[in-house]
Amino acid sequence: MDQYLVFGNPIAQSKSPLIHSMFAQQTGQELQYGRMLAVKEDFIEHLERFFSEPQAQGCNVTAPFKELAAQWVNELSPSAKLAGAINTIKRMRDGQFLGDTTDGPGLVQDMLRLGVTLTNKRILLLGAGGAARGVLSPLLLQQPTLLMVANRSVAKAQLLASLIDNDALQSCEFETLTKITQPFDLIINSTSASLIGELPKVANSVVASAGCVYDMSYADKPTVFMSHASQLGVMNVHDGLGMLVGQAAESFYLWRGIKPQVEPVIQALRTQL
Ligand code: ATR
Repeated sequence: MDQYLVFGNPIAQSKSPLIHSMFAQQTGQELQYGRMLAVKEDFIEHLERFFSEPQAQGCNVTAPFKELAAQWVNELSPSAKLAGAINTIKRMRDGQFLGDTTDGPGLVQDMLRLGVTLTNKRILLLGAGGAARGVLSPLLLQQPTLLMVANRSVAKAQLLASLIDNDALQSCEFETLTKITQPFDLIINSTSASLIGELPKVANSVVASAGCVYDMSYADKPTVFMSHASQLGVMNVHDGLGMLVGQAAESFYLWRGIKPQVEPVIQALRTQL
């Protein structure tokens, strides 16, 4: 049977094995999907041992191995090249390994599922770390009017905005956002602040005037950023559980050539949070 797994550290909490087994059941695909804990020193050894088995067709890679994995594969997709990091490896017919990043397509897919339009919209992306970098080009492909990257350390936002030559892509510091009078249609929080219960220091007026707020994090209750936005009166507020399932669906499609339905899987996961 075809084998897949996810590498990470920590990995015990990963929902990928559950998501992919639901996808496999739903689409009638025969495969096994496991998880493997590694440390940076032995990650490549584990990866090569896994792929030495002919049944091993692909794997997911999560923190902190996304950059190491990108250096190991034979070929990178264009968005993976830009991100310098991958979350998916596929063994190709010729035996070579392709690295791709499905986080961005997963985010876009989730936005569209939620009925949030990106084309001709003004988007504010908070954060300029790995999570932001991975979603830049898929967001720009949707042709927003503006994709403003704002970060606590502005130099990182500037660096990100310099990666792609596109007039819609701009950068600024949090403080400057109040000087932008036209509201944003969508604010995406890609900072890791939610994970530690913190709020990025963005003025209330900027958040309050947004049409929609999306936090890439998720938990069993709304994240601090989501609660903050709701309290400020934003009606359309979402967490990143759909993005998690969306990126998995994109990996599954890359491996199996079949698009699974995400909605029932999101609903099942939501009840287990
Ligand atoms: P990830 O891969 O999750 O993006 P990362 O590359 O470490 O993780 O990036 C974390 C991002 O969250 C950065 O943009 C970071 O801002 P700085 O570059 O200024 O450090 C942002 N971040 C983390 N905690 C934050 C906080 N309390 N307020 C604002 N931004 C925060």
